[in-house]
Amino acid sequence: MKIGTALTASATKALLLGSGELGKEIAISLQRYGVEVIAVDRYPNAPAQHIAQRSHVIDMTDAKAVKQLIADEKPDFIIPEIEAIATDALAEIEAEGISKIVPNARAVQLTMNREGIRTMAAEEVGVPTSSYAFAETYAELQQAVDNGIGYPCFIKPTMSSSGKGQSMVKSASELEAAWQHAKSGGRTDTGKVIVEGAVDFDYEITLLTVRALNQQGECETHFCAPIGHRQEDGDYRESWQPQQMTENALKNSEDIARKVTDNIGGLGLFGVELFIKGDQVWFSEVSPRPHDTGMVTLATQRQTEFDLHARAILGLPVSTRLDKVGASAVILGGLDAKGVEFTGLDKALLDPAVDIRLFAKPESFVARRMGVVTATSENVTDARAKAVEAAEKIKVSVGPVSD
Ligand SMILES: Nc1ncnc2c1ncn2[C@@H]1O[C@H](COP(=O)(O)OP(=O)(O)OP(=O)(O)O)[C@@H](O)[C@H]1O
Ligand SMILES: [Mg+2]
Repeated sequence: MKIGTALTASATKALLLGSGELGKEIAISLQRYGVEVIAVDRYPNAPAQHIAQRSHVIDMTDAKAVKQLIADEKPDFIIPEIEAIATDALAEIEAEGISKIVPNARAVQLTMNREGIRTMAAEEVGVPTSSYAFAETYAELQQAVDNGIGYPCFIKPTMSSSGKGQSMVKSASELEAAWQHAKSGGRTDTGKVIVEGAVDFDYEITLLTVRALNQQGECETHFCAPIGHRQEDGDYRESWQPQQMTENALKNSEDIARKVTDNIGGLGLFGVELFIKGDQVWFSEVSPRPHDTGMVTLATQRQTEFDLHARAILGLPVSTRLDKVGASAVILGGLDAKGVEFTGLDKALLDPAVDIRLFAKPESFVARRMGVVTATSENVTDARAKAVEAAEKIKVSVGPVSD
């Protein structure tokens, strides 16, 4: 493997499709190895664009625009950071063999639609999942629930993320509203929803799974210590590492993660979302890229999930070793405004085991993630308390009006 010199003819170039906070950390990790990073997003001044060597603003669901940009930039690697991408264009580019799609075009295609990934995991690979069905009409949905899925259940648009359009339905009287919510809350109207039986889990984890080359040049699978997390309104609020698990639950989790990621293939890091009850494990979904709950690794691992993704892609050796026990807590905008200001950092950072990332997103929304706090400690309970306490000290307020 070789890496050229950024901004010269020999440059090794990586193009990020999606330039949020996760993309920014991937860009930093890649740049530390001298890679030239091109950051693409649908709006200007997205987090990774603040630090990339070049950036572009395009509609990433527009196949023509994606293909044109890739033809102009000729990147060695195309790294999707979001799900809403013209995946057909990526499949074509992969077939042409000029750029490498990370981890591969099929992975991006499968995971952008819940139907693809769920069918692959449950029916092709055969790992345990919640009961589920797909519905294109309200009548179909009602029938699926009445004929086996039952209540409580979750209704989700097949194309959505971060909990958008998703609801938990406890009884028949709530089903119609959930159907409407899913129909209007999806990314693009595929006309389809997935209904899932609610899994009565004890806790849920993200198992960061890395496919990287070993010294013999063969692909090997590595696992990070399990990350526990707490979700609210379809988005994560807190995560911690390691999540205490029984030996069997961890073994079952790793088995499932290995099977699913083996099927996906390619090199890189994956966030495998699993539900756990006792020793029993259910597969929920997988991101073929760093996971938001994995931001805790910024504090806990010598090689963060972003470093691991960068190293795996570049064909470099990886180590998933956990160095410290830690936790993360998100900082939400809490208000709709442009150019907001953050205060309280001086107080939050008094404890040297606490750290903060502010993403510098140009616009804040009430529920938009604007930053994250990490904390390390001797145990998870204490690390969580520290992270949450520090996050509460950060205040977001309206800054100068920028336009
Ligand atoms: N079938 C289910 N049984 C129990 N809980 C569920 C189920 N489906 C979803 N949840 C809960 O809702 C959360 C979000 O669900 P899911 O991961 O499917 O949504 P998402 O929109 O893809 O979210 P994200 O993009 O943040 O991962 C899960 O982490 C879990 O807490
Ligand atoms: Mg999820």
